[in-house]
Amino acid sequence: MNEKETTIVAFCCIYCAYAAADLAGSMRLQYPSNVRIIRTPCTGRLEVEYFLRAFENGADGVLVAGCEEGSCHFKEGNLIAKRRVAYARKFLAESGLEPERLKMVNVSAAMARQLTEHIKEMAETVSKLGPSPLNKAKGTAPQEAKL
Ligand code: FES
Repeated sequence: MNEKETTIVAFCCIYCAYAAADLAGSMRLQYPSNVRIIRTPCTGRLEVEYFLRAFENGADGVLVAGCEEGSCHFKEGNLIAKRRVAYARKFLAESGLEPERLKMVNVSAAMARQLTEHIKEMAETVSKLGPSPLNKAKGTAPQEAKL
């Protein structure tokens, strides 16, 4: 399966993961082009519904990238996100969708290389799983989740 045949939505916290993605761009680090980065104020702001809606709107995989544990600018936002991702993964499994399609990672703003590795790993995992069975409109970019 070609990575270009799948789409991954990456919710990136503005304080860490988004800054790391920005740094990755400055460092000219490459990551797969099928990843759509969505800037979020904090991963704790993301409800389970956002992950599910991303799948509904055409994503084949969803990556949630927040600050390192203990470093969230809103104290426990990333811990809340961790619990929500775990809950959503169970929900996906019960719904017949592979839970591996949803993953959370933690990086600091300086961890551009680690973030690109996480993105590559996610792209590889989703590529192996293939397009989401929920995605009936392949070939179109997923709509942006409304935050
Ligand atoms: Fe980054 Fe909360 S501010 S995860």
